[in-house]
Parts: sequence; structure tokens; C-alpha cells
Amino acid sequence: MATRLIPEVLVVDPLDRELEQLLSACGMRATRGSAAELSALAHPSAQPPHVVVVDTRGARALPASMAAVKRQHPATGFLVVAAESDPTVLLEAMRAGATEFLHEPITQAALEQAISRLVAHRAAPADAGEVFAFVGAKGGVGTTTTAVNVATALAKVAPSQTLFADLHMAHGDAALLFGAEPRFSIVDALENTHRFDEAYFNGLVTPTAAGAALLASSDRALVQHAGTQQFRSVVEFAKQFYRYVILDVPRTDAAVLDALDAASRIVVVTNQELSAVRGASRLASTLRERYGRDRVLVIVGRSDKQAEISQADIEKVVASKVKHMLPSDYRLALQALNNGRPLALDNHNKLAAGFRSLAKELAKIDPEPKRSEASGGLFSRLTGRG
Ligand SMILES: Nc1ncnc2c1ncn2[C@@H]1O[C@H](COP(=O)(O)OP(=O)(O)O)[C@@H](O)[C@H]1O
Ligand SMILES: [Mg+2]
Repeated sequence: MATRLIPEVLVVDPLDRELEQLLSACGMRATRGSAAELSALAHPSAQPPHVVVVDTRGARALPASMAAVKRQHPATGFLVVAAESDPTVLLEAMRAGATEFLHEPITQAALEQAISRLVAHRAAPADAGEVFAFVGAKGGVGTTTTAVNVATALAKVAPSQTLFADLHMAHGDAALLFGAEPRFSIVDALENTHRFDEAYFNGLVTPTAAGAALLASSDRALVQHAGTQQFRSVVEFAKQFYRYVILDVPRTDAAVLDALDAASRIVVVTNQELSAVRGASRLASTLRERYGRDRVLVIVGRSDKQAEISQADIEKVVASKVKHMLPSDYRLALQALNNGRPLALDNHNKLAAGFRSLAKELAKIDPEPKRSEASGGLFSRLTGRG
């Protein structure tokens, strides 16, 4: 992880202590600063906080340096606080780069929501990491196994710079496959997005013997549903500190499926069963509409050369090439699970090689040559149009 530790919220020229107290009550770290301290942040080498709250109630005018700070550090969010809703101040605030505006009475809830939005929408820095999301066309096709092994392969390339986030709020399997015993989970992260700084986030993840850091699923029986914005905050934050972020996405959670804006590739995993292939087709087309065609990739986990449904059949149904057909190897997969040791750690088997080849393509380390096959016969049944 990067070594930078940044304060969460800088409150510029507060009228009184009320704002700082409200921010502390929300669990945020607030620092008080003057307009002069704000203008020092306009320097390119300054390390600005996540959010700057500018209180105009005392000064009645916006600090002149605000726009310059925003230009220099577009990732920093600005919230302007005013005594009343005044369209002139609002317009000025927007021109200077504020995207949130609050007037009296200032409540803790309104403040917390405004800041959460700013944190979630922070623009990604130029050196931000890459996010790869994995989602299964149905359960049991090998999605988690594939994601865990791709993360393991990438962790070999980028030790301590790879994060695996299991976005299943409960009952996710990734920790088991990594042989990890996490103390905290994705639920803790989702509930505390407003508290994120590097140290806090670091405290939630578990190191694994495979080299990837793990943000695990929770083992709580009942968890509150989380919103798209919260998932987005977690992913956006993670990619600032990790070179590679791998997401295990629950296919039935719309909030997560809608939060994948930061993903550079979304991998839809299917197998050669009719229901899975049809599911993959639907899922891939929804994801292509939402995130663009180039980002979505369909692969086959647990592939079987003898299967009635061929690679070419799948390619027709999902309307794209399927370059990665991971071989089925039940014994190896089970052994890896029982040992809590991802098999991409070992060489000399086809399945591990398949995971590495997928990892290479996603991270564009060493693109694999393309493969294609002649067409097969089950097309009409697969599409459901026959
Ligand atoms: N390539 C493979 N060959 C054989 N079995 C596999 C393979 N990949 C996964 N499995 C097995 O399939 C089962 C489901 O895998 P999992 O990764 O949990 O799937 P999903 O996340 O899609 O539900 C597990 O028992 C796992 O060991
Ligand atoms: Mg799974």
C-alpha cells in the first residue's frame, strides 16, 4: 500500500465548533484550518484531505483560493456551508468547484450524507489501480475459485499491492479458499465508508498466505442491505491504494451490479450447462449495456471437452469470443479448497496455467494468442429461440 496518510475533513474558517462536533459525532476526523491554510493546498505537492468543508457563515464570502485548490487536486471534494439558501452563493460555490451545499439548520444526518457523497465521487487519481470484477452466470460455476486464483496470480506480480474484496455481504467463500480467518468484513467497510483512511481500511483487511489482502464476506447471520453508493465508495477507495483490486460479485445483488463503474474488466463466468449459458448471455448483455461492450468478458470455468455444448456454441450465444476455457479438475479444486491454498500458487497443472493466462490478459501483462473454433449445433436451444 502507499504510505500517504491523509486527514479526512478540513473545516475552513468555521463559525463555531458546531461543525467539528457534528463531524466527530459521525466518526470523521476533522481538522480546523484558516483560509490561508486552504490556499497552501493549491500547491501541487500539497496533500489535501478527502473533503474540504468551507464555512461561509462568518466570512460571508468564499475563500479566493478554493477554485485553485480544486483545479490542482480534483479528487478533493468541496462542501460549502452557508447561513441560508442563497442562489448567488450557491452559484459561486459551484463555480469554485463545490458539489455539495448545506444551509442552516445543519443536521448531523445531512452533513454525513453530503460527505459520503463527496468521498464516493472523488475522481480517481491518475495512478489508481485496476479493478477486475467476477460474476457468475449461476452458482457453482467456479466464479469464486477463478477470482481467488486470478488474485493469487496477480499478487505474485504485485506483492502486497493486490486486494481481493468479497462483495457477498454474508456467506461468501473467498476466505475459505484463501485459508484466511478474517476478523472484519465487507459489512464493517460498508458501514464505515465515511471513516475511510488508509489506516482504517488496512485494519479491515486480512493478509493471506497467497499474497493478496482480503476484505472478506461477513459471517453474521443477518446483515442490513447496503446501497450502490456504499459499494462504490469501498471500490473507489481500495483502488487508490492497491495496484489490483479483484471483486467477487454476487450476481443477485443489484446494488453491487450497479456499482462496478470503477471496474476495467467485468468477467462473467459460465459453465457448459444450458441454464448457465443462457444466464451468461443475459447477464453479459445487461452488463454491456450498462458498462460498455469492451469491458465485459465471458469465460468458462470448469470446462469439459466432452460436453455437448461447445466453446463455439457459447460464443454464439453470448455474442463474443470466449478465450478462456478453464479446464475442469475436480480433484485439484477440492484439494486446494481443503488446504486453503489457491492452486495458482503451484505450477505444472493446466488449471493453474489457465488462471495465470486469464490474469495476464486482464492486467495486460502478456496477452495470450486468440483461439476460435468452428460452430456447433445447439444454438437455437441455447438462445431459447428454437
Ligand atoms: N476448474 C474447476 N474444476 C473443477 N472443480 C471446480 C473448478 N473450479 C471450481 N470448482 C469447484 O466447484 C465448486 C464451486 O466453486 P466456486 O468457485 O465456489 O463457484 P461459484 O463461486 O461460482 O459458486 C467448488 O466445489 C469448487 O471446488
Ligand atoms: Mg462464489
